Amino acid sequence: MIEIKPDIYYVGVKNPDMRIFDVFFRTESGTTYNSYLIVGKEKIALIDTVKEPFRDEFIKNVEEIVPLEKINYIITLHHEPDHSGALKYILEKSNARVVISKTAGLFLKQILHRDANPLLVGDNDKISLGNITLEFIQAPFLHWPDTMFAYIPERNILFTCDFLGQHFSDEAIYNDESRDFTYAFEHYYKIIMRPFKDYVLQAIKKIENKNIDMIAPSHGMILRKDPWKYVDLYRTWSTPKPRDYRRALVFYASPYGGTGKLANSIAKGLADSGVYVEIFDLAGTVIDDSLLDLIENSDALIVGSSTLNGDAIKPVWDLLSSLTTINMRNKIGFAFGTFAWSGEAPKFIENRLKDLKLKVPETSFRAGIIPTEEDLQRAAEMGKKLAGYIIGPSSSVPA
Ligand SMILES: Cc1cc2nc3c(=O)[nH]c(=O)nc-3n(C[C@H](O)[C@H](O)[C@H](O)COP(=O)(O)O)c2cc1C
Repeated sequence: MIEIKPDIYYVGVKNPDMRIFDVFFRTESGTTYNSYLIVGKEKIALIDTVKEPFRDEFIKNVEEIVPLEKINYIITLHHEPDHSGALKYILEKSNARVVISKTAGLFLKQILHRDANPLLVGDNDKISLGNITLEFIQAPFLHWPDTMFAYIPERNILFTCDFLGQHFSDEAIYNDESRDFTYAFEHYYKIIMRPFKDYVLQAIKKIENKNIDMIAPSHGMILRKDPWKYVDLYRTWSTPKPRDYRRALVFYASPYGGTGKLANSIAKGLADSGVYVEIFDLAGTVIDDSLLDLIENSDALIVGSSTLNGDAIKPVWDLLSSLTTINMRNKIGFAFGTFAWSGEAPKFIENRLKDLKLKVPETSFRAGIIPTEEDLQRAAEMGKKLAGYIIGPSSSVPA
């Protein structure tokens, strides 16, 4: 039992052996499911629960402090199963009222398979536990639509759900007592929060004038030393970086070089029109964090593949399936490639670019096995046309 502030207890569970979270997220140091029990003079509230398989240890932690039936409120800051998995077990043994954000009703029903008559709270709504007040702050899309924070003004503590969290587990629970977790903090932001930069900045605006000396996220270390340092890092990472030039990236997969020739011609057309272009042969390109940073910080993604067995080539799909952590909206997209008989790849790529919410103003471009001079000329002209959309006012892009 750890009292992190007077009347506020850490009752979370550690999972140091986890190596992959949510199937795709590597976690070299495991993770924790943080939960907090607040024992007010009149009422008792639990903030979040834990992933379902860890419920027994969790319930034991809570019951070291109070029997479950004494809990009056369970605050669910969002409904991802790693924090709501044990909820139904607590509800079976208590008459606690579930407190959720106004947008979370449907999620709660999907988890409990019944109407639990939750208390819906919005920005600045408060619940009194007697001597302690819980204030709620809506923080949508950080990283689920229903996410909210809870703030206790009498204790200067902010509970931030996944915001400022880390998949990291240590003997310690505080940032000033643990091993270095810089990488886990950065990586969590990149994988989980990066698509929602605007929402990150909006949430920071809502908390920046509050007295906060401890931030308690739902994963990883509690930030009690320099909590604002971590908020400032999120602010820096989420603030757009101004550029005084336009950048297009051209990626291609081309076993026999034809699609590569088209790529170079499109790139030349773009460059001749004043766009800064970088060109990547996907055969030798590693899709890592720095490449994703570059894509995020570019205005256009132009992707070519020859058609092999009725499809685009795998490295193209590897690239196109790696972009979900980046907001691609408003970037210009274009697809191209050579083919011999059916030529599906450019259309498939074009559709994927549209699904990723890029603007794709021109129909994809195809050429035969060995592009002719005329094909290359057409490709260069297409590069110039695309430059017009990239440099021109956004109104020049057809809806
Ligand atoms: C293994 C293999 C499978 C292919 N399958 C198709 C196909 O399904 N449809 C098609 O139009 N062309 C197909 N082709 C032909 C290529 O798309 C064509 O040769 C193309 O121009 C190669 O482009 P590149 O020079 O950029 O590699 C295939 C070629 C290979 C080697």
